[in-house]
Amino acid sequence: MRIPEALQVLLDDGIIDEVRRQLKSGKEASVYVVRCGKEVRCAKVYKDMGTRSFQARAQYQEGRKVRGSRQARAMAKSTSYGRKEQESAWKNTEVDALYQLVAAGVRVPQPFGFFSGVLLMELVTDAQGHSAPRLGEVDLAPEQAREFHAFLIHQVVRMLCVGLIHGDLSEFNVLVGPEGPVIIDLPQAVNAAANNNALAMLQRDVGNITETLGRFAPELLATDYANEMWALFEQGLLLPETPLTGVFVKDESETNVDEIVMAIDEAREEAIRRELARAAALEPDND
Ligand SMILES: Nc1ncnc2c1ncn2[C@@H]1O[C@H](COP(=O)(O)OP(=O)(O)OP(=O)(O)O)[C@@H](O)[C@H]1O
Ligand SMILES: [Mg+2]
Repeated sequence: MRIPEALQVLLDDGIIDEVRRQLKSGKEASVYVVRCGKEVRCAKVYKDMGTRSFQARAQYQEGRKVRGSRQARAMAKSTSYGRKEQESAWKNTEVDALYQLVAAGVRVPQPFGFFSGVLLMELVTDAQGHSAPRLGEVDLAPEQAREFHAFLIHQVVRMLCVGLIHGDLSEFNVLVGPEGPVIIDLPQAVNAAANNNALAMLQRDVGNITETLGRFAPELLATDYANEMWALFEQGLLLPETPLTGVFVKDESETNVDEIVMAIDEAREEAIRRELARAAALEPDND
């Protein structure tokens, strides 16, 4: 196996001791199994920015914090300095998100740092120690699918409670470890409060997970957790342990007024009908 330059740097610096094998070459990164001392870990090597589109990421970057205004201006102008800054902001988002999420109790791979374009993290394995399968690759009993769904919704809530939306959550970006699902692949994590597309991304994330698990437990398809948690989040009422129902009722006050008026009319008519029936029953028999 040809060792990529980025990993050679880490070998030379003694940050990793061996590159065992390539796990996957994805759209945006190549993932390797490496050894650091006695520990087997996962190294994610980001691809060159040149091969990715800036446009596609514009919607994600909205609201992302940039350190200095010089940096922000350069990024906006997309000058070569700007490009470099954009690139490193993009790469760092995943590491930052991982540290933030571990602290918030979200089950993501434990990060072990970011070195010259390489993210080192925990290798998620199955019970045999092989790299874990993706959520879309496992067969589940209905009960297990319901459990995974409840767990993942809870993880999405925890993320939202620290202001983050995954932004690309799907059957491809959830691994299944022996203790259950582990969420991966967070370079596009979105700042929920500052991004105009936040709700749409949350709906897509929750929708993808619900659709995948709904294959095994179809009743999940009738739930609407995204809108429910978003409504609570917007009101500042969402906490990691807030119970959710999966039912979202839109607040349509006008319709409600009509419904109440109708209910009152019906109750009044019912009372008159009862009164008439009672009067009829009290009338002396004609026989
Ligand atoms: N921490 C990890 N432990 C085990 N396997 C991992 C880990 N991180 C990534 N992988 C494997 O590598 C694949 C690619 O990782 P990731 O999704 O982070 O990168 P990506 O380039 O965005 O890929 P894609 O474009 O396919 O989404 C994952 O689907 C998974 O199979
Ligand atoms: Mg991925």
